[in-house]
Amino acid sequence: QEQGERESLFIALNFAKDFFVKNLKTEEGKSIGLSYFKERGFTPSIIEKFDLGYALDGWDHLLKAAKESGFQEDILLKSGLILQKEGDPTRLYDRFRNRVTFTIHNVSGRPIGFGARILTKDKNQPKYINSPETPIYHKSDVLYGMFQAKKAIRDKDNCYLVEGYTDVISLHLSGIENVVASSGTSLTEGQIKLIKRFTNHVTVLYDGDNAGIKASLRGIDLLLEGGLLVKAVVFPDGEDPDSFSQKVGTQAFQDYLEANSRDFIGFKIGLYQDEIQRDPIRKAELIREVVQSIGKIPDPIIRSVYAKEASGLLSIEEEIIHSELNKALLKVQ
Ligand code: UTP
Ligand code: MN
Ligand code: MN
Ligand code: MN
Ligand code: MN
Repeated sequence: QEQGERESLFIALNFAKDFFVKNLKTEEGKSIGLSYFKERGFTPSIIEKFDLGYALDGWDHLLKAAKESGFQEDILLKSGLILQKEGDPTRLYDRFRNRVTFTIHNVSGRPIGFGARILTKDKNQPKYINSPETPIYHKSDVLYGMFQAKKAIRDKDNCYLVEGYTDVISLHLSGIENVVASSGTSLTEGQIKLIKRFTNHVTVLYDGDNAGIKASLRGIDLLLEGGLLVKAVVFPDGEDPDSFSQKVGTQAFQDYLEANSRDFIGFKIGLYQDEIQRDPIRKAELIREVVQSIGKIPDPIIRSVYAKEASGLLSIEEEIIHSELNKALLKVQ
């Protein structure tokens, strides 16, 4: 019974994916959706690889097509594709309208949800509308792009972690395929477990704005707790991996990643470099924060490697780091 429902949901999601992909080839889809993607530098082959599509302007294009193909209303509602009108639940309408669509796949490549981007600069509407949680889409266990990335993550033994759908796609265009997105929310244990199926190394590439950097600091501690080895790259202010790679081009982008990847210790200390030179109190705080992060690493050998590095970068005796570390470790027990 429940298995039958899950399968029906998979089929509905796949139907919607095919529908959005086909829409991109209609006159409306070409002039609005496809031209939007082209303007962002997305090629036909990347559009195909990621099942990018277009949700037509109108209230019920998908609903009508799905019903004609025999889908039941209760499955369409459960799939998150269709909504009930407030105040009149018998009236149904499409969740995704007049937007370009990003198909979210599970690790085996089956569509389980969508993100849909607005095409205008209208600030009164959300930039992205996303599928809700459903029986086949547990957001906390999914990373956007994992299906397209998993082989490269294994081969490179590293996973780039970005914030957005378009960051994943632009990295692929720059020849970097080992990349997944957290889709703008904070990382979860389930997502970290998913990464660990393929590698123990993560390089965090978050947006070069304050929100992005703060999110990366929170995420890094979780990754460390999960036993992953973490690096991070900072982008110039206001740039994200997509905008920056499109701006400087493939080779310069790859060089930038090479030159600016730092392990999490160097990354964290680098963020506060100016402050701590002026303010010894701030430096003391930073030492404690760095020690806290090191304390989250499960492996004692790796812990002591980082303790040594922190001691060098902060020019403070290693014994002090170790004694603080012992205090931090006692606290968690
Ligand atoms: P960003 O605001 O950085 O968007 O949010 P972006 O990915 O760079 O998108 P473009 O380049 O403007 O098109 C990062 C991620 O957060 C989620 C999306 O997954 C987005 O890719 N997000 C953002 C939402 O779900 N809803 C929103 O309204 C905004
Ligand atoms: Mn779950
Ligand atoms: Mn951002
Ligand atoms: Mn962004
Ligand atoms: Mn962006």
